Amino acid sequence: MRPGHDRTPVHAPGWLPGVGAVSYGGDYNPEQWPEEVWAEDVALMRDAGVNLVSIGIFSWGLLEPSEGVYDFGWLDRVIELLHANGIRVDLGTPTASPPAWFFDAYPHTRVVSRDGTVLGFGSRGLVCPSSAEYRRAATAIATQLARRYGRHPALALWHVHNEYGVPVSEDYSATSAAAFRTWLQERYGSLDALNAVWGTAFWGQVYRSWDHVGVPALAPSVVNPAHRLDFARFTDDALLACFVAERDAIRAESPGIPITTNFMAGACHSTDLWRWAAEVDVVSNDHYLTAADPRGHVGLAMAADLTRSFAGGKPWILMEHSTSGVNWQERNVAKRPGEMARNALSHLGRGADAILFFQWRASRSGAEKFHSAMLPHAGTGSRVFREVRELGAGLAGLDEVLGSRVEADVAILWDQQSFWAQDLEWRPSVDARHRERVDAFYDRLWRDGITVDFAHPEHDLSRYKLVLAPASYLLTARAAENLTAYVAQGGTLLTSFFSGIVDEHDRVHTGPHLSVLRDALGVTVEEFLPLRAGERVHVALAPETGAEVPDEGHEGTQPPAPVVADVWADDLTLAGAEVVGTYTDGPAAGRPAITRHRHGAGTGWYLSTRPDADGLARVLRRVYRDAGVTPAGLPEDVEVVRRRGAEADFVVVANHTDKPVDLGLSGVDLLTGETAEPGRGALTVAGGGVRVVRTPRA
Ligand code: GLA
Repeated sequence: MRPGHDRTPVHAPGWLPGVGAVSYGGDYNPEQWPEEVWAEDVALMRDAGVNLVSIGIFSWGLLEPSEGVYDFGWLDRVIELLHANGIRVDLGTPTASPPAWFFDAYPHTRVVSRDGTVLGFGSRGLVCPSSAEYRRAATAIATQLARRYGRHPALALWHVHNEYGVPVSEDYSATSAAAFRTWLQERYGSLDALNAVWGTAFWGQVYRSWDHVGVPALAPSVVNPAHRLDFARFTDDALLACFVAERDAIRAESPGIPITTNFMAGACHSTDLWRWAAEVDVVSNDHYLTAADPRGHVGLAMAADLTRSFAGGKPWILMEHSTSGVNWQERNVAKRPGEMARNALSHLGRGADAILFFQWRASRSGAEKFHSAMLPHAGTGSRVFREVRELGAGLAGLDEVLGSRVEADVAILWDQQSFWAQDLEWRPSVDARHRERVDAFYDRLWRDGITVDFAHPEHDLSRYKLVLAPASYLLTARAAENLTAYVAQGGTLLTSFFSGIVDEHDRVHTGPHLSVLRDALGVTVEEFLPLRAGERVHVALAPETGAEVPDEGHEGTQPPAPVVADVWADDLTLAGAEVVGTYTDGPAAGRPAITRHRHGAGTGWYLSTRPDADGLARVLRRVYRDAGVTPAGLPEDVEVVRRRGAEADFVVVANHTDKPVDLGLSGVDLLTGETAEPGRGALTVAGGGVRVVRTPRA
């Protein structure tokens, strides 16, 4: 049992005040239950080691029964009960779910979808983010909460809104249209400038009055992509302005308490989280496994690495995940014994200092009653509750992990704005999907046991030995210069096909494609050669020079098997690069497929096709060698990640197989206290098990 978690108060800026242990808990919705249940809730929370709960997230309709009339009685009682039991509070502002009276009073704030449908009430998250009435009402309830609870000793964190950008983000209402026009006027100043960057001479779309500029609603054919890209940016700005308005209102009343909003890193496409991360005090993230993917733990790791990267490497909060199945996927696969702990500790290994769930007690009513919870419908005798208690007890031994950092030598480029642009219609091939490429590259690095950061293409990349650009369709001139300088200064860059194509207005960069990266890569693209559905091409790799381990495709005295690829080929023009792989068939037969170029002190690689998993592994092995990056050589589906503390390292090993593994680990397992002295036995990891091992600093 761990009432409270201020054993070693830490007041480091950017973390929760008075919190010196790993936070553990989840969304708590006592308003869904009679008050007599609350005492049991809190007793069971203490039993489970819960020390932080998120409350009030969807309670606007209860807290403000009619406009300007407030009822805080029940929330006062909940907060006092939690406080009396040493459980800290992450207080939500309920603005993701405006009450029925709000839509009745301001019907024009309802979201209009791209096809013109006005969305109705009876759900959540349905409001025009540009509406002045919404922003006023949201700021008012946030202010009331901050005045009332902003200095309460139980308060550890503010949780503004919930998952900005879902379930809807873009709103095509007249209110949004007017705000969009203002946004465009501020950005471009004149219609001439707008016409120029949108290229409205095409199809005679030229605008001669601001009143004619609308939202990019459904139209007879494809809407101008620059218009749609700006609308995506405008929407992101509108959502972010809602957050900032609430944040500033709270800050004025609640000094010293950090403010967050829960991201959905990699899962919400309408928010550019690099920008959002700059506005929150602490980054927090929600993550749910993709149940259809038996290797969903890789997607989990990627979301966690993305979140840590958005947080600039600082510790972050896992605001939500699930104890078992969710209720909103097609087939909601339940987690099997041990899986919840592996998931939770994998997040922790990748930098999370708080492990929270949706939600504490399973709901009886409403849309989410089949979602798992810490306290499931089956009660305290259930496997899930037993594992929740065990995890709480385990986390209680991890105080010293708090604040330690994950370090990566490799970065994958991630630019939401490029993804918005690439996702628009009429691209060379529907099979060239940005997310699929990022996932494929990440998966290979995960299998190789190489810890990865994500980086924006305009970030300082100098700390990385290797930078991968699996999907950088939109690349600003500034980003291209940054990547070129990174290579010149000794970095290794691998760029995949359909990258460096357009500028920030979705205008093709002048010259042959890839000209913006010609210096770094030593190659340009004369013509895209997308492949037919199911069509395959083969790429013969040149023999490696100086490789200690020959290419895996090499068998006996036979030449190495070619790399199998699909989706895409390019007709390349060499501009100094050496050819590492040559198409043996397909539309570019006999022409270069993979190139390598020395530029300054570094190396730029270009991969003009989509190799299969084995082919990507073989190509990456060569790239790793250039970069001085070494795969960890782990058994399949065993995950190892290291956090560096001031005095020790903490190695998290999650064994996603059902067989025990022996990695020769020595140190102390902080979950169980088991110890293995170096050279005298090892801490094996049971099938499905996880360990958090303190080892001397590497
Ligand atoms: C999201 C929301 C929660 C809840 C969970 C269910 O992440 O933030 O309110 O709906 O999903 O999985």
